[in-house]
Formats: sequence, structure tokens, C-alpha cells
Amino acid sequence: MNELDFSGKQVLVVGGSSGIGNGIAQAFRAKGAQVAVCGTRAHAKDYSAEEGSDLTGLVYAQLDVSDARAIDAFKPSFERLDVLVLAQGAVIYRRGEFEMAGFRRVLEVNLMSLMACATRFHPMLRDSGGSLIIVSSTAAYHSTMGNPAYNASKTGAVGLTRTLGEAWAEDGIRINGIAPGLVDTKMTKVTTSNPQRLEGALSRIPLRRLGTPADMAGAALFLASPLSSYIIGQTIVVDGGLIL
Ligand SMILES: NC(=O)c1ccc[n+]([C@@H]2O[C@H](COP(=O)([O-])OP(=O)(O)OC[C@H]3O[C@@H](n4cnc5c(N)ncnc54)[C@H](OP(=O)(O)O)[C@@H]3O)[C@@H](O)[C@H]2O)c1
Repeated sequence: MNELDFSGKQVLVVGGSSGIGNGIAQAFRAKGAQVAVCGTRAHAKDYSAEEGSDLTGLVYAQLDVSDARAIDAFKPSFERLDVLVLAQGAVIYRRGEFEMAGFRRVLEVNLMSLMACATRFHPMLRDSGGSLIIVSSTAAYHSTMGNPAYNASKTGAVGLTRTLGEAWAEDGIRINGIAPGLVDTKMTKVTTSNPQRLEGALSRIPLRRLGTPADMAGAALFLASPLSSYIIGQTIVVDGGLIL
């Protein structure tokens, strides 16, 4: 038996239009799954490879998760759901998260929407005995001085992973999380496209390289597979040693 064969499984990656979520979506597709992804733009053609998007072979649908009504009203392209990955995320730089409007916006996208998506798809995951994977961040484990909302939302995501993991175990749903370190995506261009900042960042990573969406996908495949059948409520840090 190949535990990492996802043939016949339906996967949905919210935030799968680019970056980490997109890498996770493509990894599930490569393992045989049918994969649907959501992002903020109207059409798949609105995304480009330069921004870290490869929508080949994925079913794309627009969903703005900052709008709770849109999540409730979302009509999926599938009738069964085996794996739900919540990879949506936003950050506001230049002290925008110290303004209440910015703080609320980031909490809405990074935390409130996790609960809204989880409850929206709870019946389908219960029916399939499926799994839910929440992408938080190593930012959950230390202060991030310029980004109070990002920090609070990601710390909340780790807590939500624990509590939903416990609460929905009796429904046969396994819930776990991934906390990426520094991954080269459009979200982190502010660091990775600045040579000095990049050098500083790399010097703090014991593996001396940035993470890739494929690195994160390895953990996602494991957490969605029977190889992790006795693990619930945990968040795996995937950071090349950054927070050691
Ligand atoms: N990159 C890192 O170093 C790093 C480290 C730790 C944690 N993370 C987390 O990893 C996740 C993925 O981030 P990424 O680095 O891959 O950045 P990214 O390439 O910008 O991807 C973010 C994803 O979230 C979606 N999204 C943002 N706002 C949304 C909204 N209002 N409604 C629906 N979808 C929305 C984006 O859609 P669009 O493509 O349409 O914008 C995109 O699919 C996030 O939760 C992030 O916090 C990233």
C-alpha cells in the first residue's frame, strides 16, 4: 500500500492560488488527487508564474475569505471532500497593523476565516472522515515587532488547530497544522528581494536556505495521509531550524 497515493481523493486548498498553498495543491495533484483551489482574483488566468502561481490541472474558484457571507454562500465544484487545506494569509507592512482597520483586516483573513471555512466544510469532512490542515507560521512562537495582527492571528491559528483537533476527533476528522518559517513567495518579497535583508535572514536559518512551497507540501502530504493517523491538534514547524 502506498500511503501517499491520493488517487480518488478530493482536496480543496483555500489560498491555493499562489505560493505555499499552490505548492501544496500541486503536490496533492502529483499524488493523484483532484484538487480545487481558491484565491482572490476573478479567474485563473489572472495569476502568473512570476508571482508563484501554477494553476495547471487545478480547478480554480474565486473566494474572498474576508467576507464571511461569501464563505457561507460558496458553491464547491465537488460533492465530496477528503482534505481541506487552509493556506490563506495576509500581512500589512509599514505599521498598517497598528491601525485598527488593518489589525481587523488581518485577523479576518488569517484567523476568523479559518473558523468560517472549517465550519463551512465540517459536514463534508465528517462524511468522508477527512482531514483539515491549517497553515499558521513560526510567527506564532515569537514576537513580530512590526506586525501585531499577523502575530496574534497566527498564534490564534495554532490554538484553533489544537481545539478543533480535539473537538472534531469524535467526528472522525483529523486536524493538524503547519508552521512555515521563511518561504520565498509574493508575501515575503519585501525580505527576499532585498539583498541585505535576505542575507540577514539566511544567516539565522541553520539550513542556510529559504523554504520552498514544496518543503511545506511534504508536511501537508504526511498530515493528510494515514502515516499520521494518530496525530491530532499538532502544528509541525517546517522552518529549516529558524526558531531553534
Ligand atoms: N511565505 C512565508 O514565509 C510564510 C511563512 C509563514 C507562514 N506563511 C503563511 O503561509 C500562507 C500562504 O502564504 P504565502 O507565503 O504562500 O503567500 P501568498 O503567495 O501571498 O499566498 C497567500 C494566499 O492567500 C490568499 N489570500 C490572501 N488574502 C485572501 C482573501 N482575502 N481571501 C482569499 N484568499 C486570500 C492569496 O490569494 P491571491 O493569490 O489571490 O492573493 C494566496 O492564495 C499564509 O497563511 C501565510 O501567512 C507564509
